Amino acid sequence: MTFKNDGRDEGQDIPVVSFLWVDVFKSKTENRAITYMKTRPVPAWVTGLGPLRSGAMPVTLLYRRQAKAASESTSLGHNPAHCNETRIMIRTQGLSVQFGERVLFEDVSIKFTQGNCYGLIGPNGAGKSTLLKVLSGETEPHSGSVVIDQGLRVAVLKQDHFEFNEFDALTTVLMGHGRLFAIMQEKNTLYLKPDFDESDGMRAAELEAEFGGLNGWEAEAQAGELLGGLGIPVSRHGLLVRELDDGDKVRVLLAQAVFGDPDVLLLDEPTNHLDVESILWLEDFLLSFQNTVIVVSHDRHFLNRVSTHIADIDYHKVKLYTGNYDFWRQASEMALRHRQARKEKNEDRARELREFIARFSANASKSRQATSRKKMLGQLDVEAIAPSSRKSPHIVFSSERVHSKEMLSLTDVSKSVGGKSIFEGVNLTIANGERVVVVSRDSVATSTFLEVVAGTQEPDTGSVRWAAAVRRSFLPKEYSHLFDVDLSVIDWLRQFSEDPDEDFIRKFLGRMLFTGEESRKSVTVLSGGEKVRCMLARLMLENPQCLILDGPTNHLDLESINVLNNALSKRSGTLIFGSHDVELIESLTDRVIEISNEGLVDHQCGYAELRQRRTEESAMLVGA
Ligand SMILES: Nc1ncnc2c1ncn2[C@@H]1O[C@H](COP(=O)(O)OP(=O)(O)O)[C@@H](O)[C@H]1O
Ligand SMILES: [Mg+2]
Repeated sequence: MTFKNDGRDEGQDIPVVSFLWVDVFKSKTENRAITYMKTRPVPAWVTGLGPLRSGAMPVTLLYRRQAKAASESTSLGHNPAHCNETRIMIRTQGLSVQFGERVLFEDVSIKFTQGNCYGLIGPNGAGKSTLLKVLSGETEPHSGSVVIDQGLRVAVLKQDHFEFNEFDALTTVLMGHGRLFAIMQEKNTLYLKPDFDESDGMRAAELEAEFGGLNGWEAEAQAGELLGGLGIPVSRHGLLVRELDDGDKVRVLLAQAVFGDPDVLLLDEPTNHLDVESILWLEDFLLSFQNTVIVVSHDRHFLNRVSTHIADIDYHKVKLYTGNYDFWRQASEMALRHRQARKEKNEDRARELREFIARFSANASKSRQATSRKKMLGQLDVEAIAPSSRKSPHIVFSSERVHSKEMLSLTDVSKSVGGKSIFEGVNLTIANGERVVVVSRDSVATSTFLEVVAGTQEPDTGSVRWAAAVRRSFLPKEYSHLFDVDLSVIDWLRQFSEDPDEDFIRKFLGRMLFTGEESRKSVTVLSGGEKVRCMLARLMLENPQCLILDGPTNHLDLESINVLNNALSKRSGTLIFGSHDVELIESLTDRVIEISNEGLVDHQCGYAELRQRRTEESAMLVGA
């Protein structure tokens, strides 16, 4: 068992010293009882630092927590058995944030308590990233304050991918624990001193004590394990961050944030740029993480699996709800229905509530979720749930099929990007009506495959043949160049329409929430979310028999993602897509095509089945 010295429990630890620099010393800084024991060999990295002064030996302090009265130990907290559930980790008091005229929050007072995972949601631009920055102290609130319980370590997933460019991956992860990293550096400097004297020995002893208390001996192994879990092999741990691709940079920053078991972990859209396998790893990691997490995400599978609470930013307030995202969404839809039909009888409401509770109490997958679920069922009051102010777009694809049995065939297709082979000699056919997902750890591979299929890139060898007269539409990953024209939203969409009639065009824009003045503005000023809504309006208008989508949920908010997922589920035409949205993939796919370093593998089964197979295979390997 490991313990942390986090400053909350001064005087509760007995450091056990092994190997001494000086014969006897007393800790100057801390009023602690010290026992000396020679128990540990000198670690190789210390002896490798050059000649040590005679009589001076490195010190390792291993902390042993003194047995304490059970009542006191509950407040120490990281051990789940001792978890004091009501300990408030972060609290805001009367928080208001505004930029110029624009008010994000007004008088927000909320508490984030120990051991919970809060999924932070809200429409684009509502202030999710700003709230995390205020909580971490990076941004000052306009008024009000943030109170963080004394001695807590707050870790943040950094969004700046350049800050650590000149450090290697492993060091970048270690830097996630600021205090531990500072100790490591100071220790190294001390041990390299040519005139190492007694006071240096005392200082080193203090540092070693703190280092041991922070579980420093395990640090490198743990950092390496985190990187390994995220799919970065040991051979890459020594590479500089700038030498890594974007996906790996995010993985390193993620490992940095979670390294060293922070008390509070703040994550802003951690699943962006991650492939599905890494997202699932992160889900598992957060499920076993015992401390407090506040995470912004647009990934429904992720939010549903990890969150015990939802913090919804709406109406300039942050409201906390117990339960996961699906629970919040369905409860808020129910609240809206009730509000609209207030006059209806109470029995209807009671019945619906009972059914809802029965459905949601069935599938608690982990203990902290089960506990929070029990609580939420006890407290559920539909009237207390504010119906969301968000508007959902209305996406409908017609399901016109072609008559041919086969939609598409690839014969001996190869493609390289920047001299690196992505796939070679691919032969496959896609049947009419099939739904195929392309997955890869490398997003360039997925995009390249989809572009070759869509015909926006030529293969190096082989051919791509489509059934005769198939209408097909492609949503590429990168489409900003399409918006480099000074056209209004209406005129932009008109470019893709055979029917130039304004009412016809407006019908599609209206569904994507561009009404009145909104559809008159120039496409050059649109946000990422607005651009993708234009692209989806175009796809609806083109009414294709085969849809090819590369990352369709990128830049969409949760409401729009739900609507898009439903529209694609209802549509029966052929679909070929790449996505990191686990729920979209699981709910839509008949067949998975995977591109790895070994080339392209056609799995001929859906994603859920593939995962099931993989789990069974790895269980067999472990058992063997
Ligand atoms: N430093 C700043 N100065 C002015 N406006 C800002 C600043 N930071 C964020 N904003 C604005 O505040 C709003 C909320 O931003 P943000 O917190 O990033 O939203 P979210 O993460 O919910 O999408 C946006 O309209 C954004 O343009
Ligand atoms: Mg944001």
